[in-house]
Amino acid sequence: MRESPVKIALSVLAADFARLGEEARRAEEAGADMLHFDLMDGHFVPNLSFGPMIVKALRKHTSLPFYAHLMVYNPENYIRELVEAGSEIITVHAEACVHLHRAIRLIKREGVKAGVALNPATPLTSIKYVLSDLDLVLVMTVNPGFGGQEFIPGMLGKVREMRKILVEEKVDAYLAVDGGITPENAAEVVKAGADLLVAGTATFGRPDLRKAVEELRREAERGYAEKWW
Ligand code: DX5
Ligand code: ZN
Repeated sequence: MRESPVKIALSVLAADFARLGEEARRAEEAGADMLHFDLMDGHFVPNLSFGPMIVKALRKHTSLPFYAHLMVYNPENYIRELVEAGSEIITVHAEACVHLHRAIRLIKREGVKAGVALNPATPLTSIKYVLSDLDLVLVMTVNPGFGGQEFIPGMLGKVREMRKILVEEKVDAYLAVDGGITPENAAEVVKAGADLLVAGTATFGRPDLRKAVEELRREAERGYAEKWW
């Protein structure tokens, strides 16, 4: 299969929890690039989801790369387990880490890709001094905690600014966006600077998953053709 310049990660949060194994296989058949796992602790975000055990249980159902998004306080406590469960990318929230640099080092030491996620209100300067250690920056395009929310339009400018910083600082990291991503805004976010789209409702939430992924990819590539960066 041809490599697309923009990666599409499907958020398991929107999958059918009663048959997750099947959903993971369905995602692979539909042409997804990764599975995105939203871990929530009911403290950092006002919702609970699942832990590393679910990630581990799904590892044998697909060969898609696993991308863990930790919306929890003390994320350091789950890193080892998530790596053992087969996660290839681990993202922690800047707002959830008192010692962000240490958390990133912990992830890197486990030999996987390290990412930092930023809530909509968090400035990009909060990752300025850890940028060179990062493999991924996740700009949240909704307030984290729930699927099915609307994309916050003001985040387009934030994505553009983040891309500018990555270019200027010559940092080779994914710029991911997560929350409210649909075929209607995919081209715009990619055009602004994103190269990894996380989508739940617009993928698992639709009856024809293959068609949903194809539509997202088509729009993402349309945006990529017009990118400024
Ligand atoms: C939100 C999560 C997202 C969520 C996205 O806290 O981080 O990954 O599943 O869901 P949609 O695509 O429905 O906005
Ligand atoms: Zn997420």
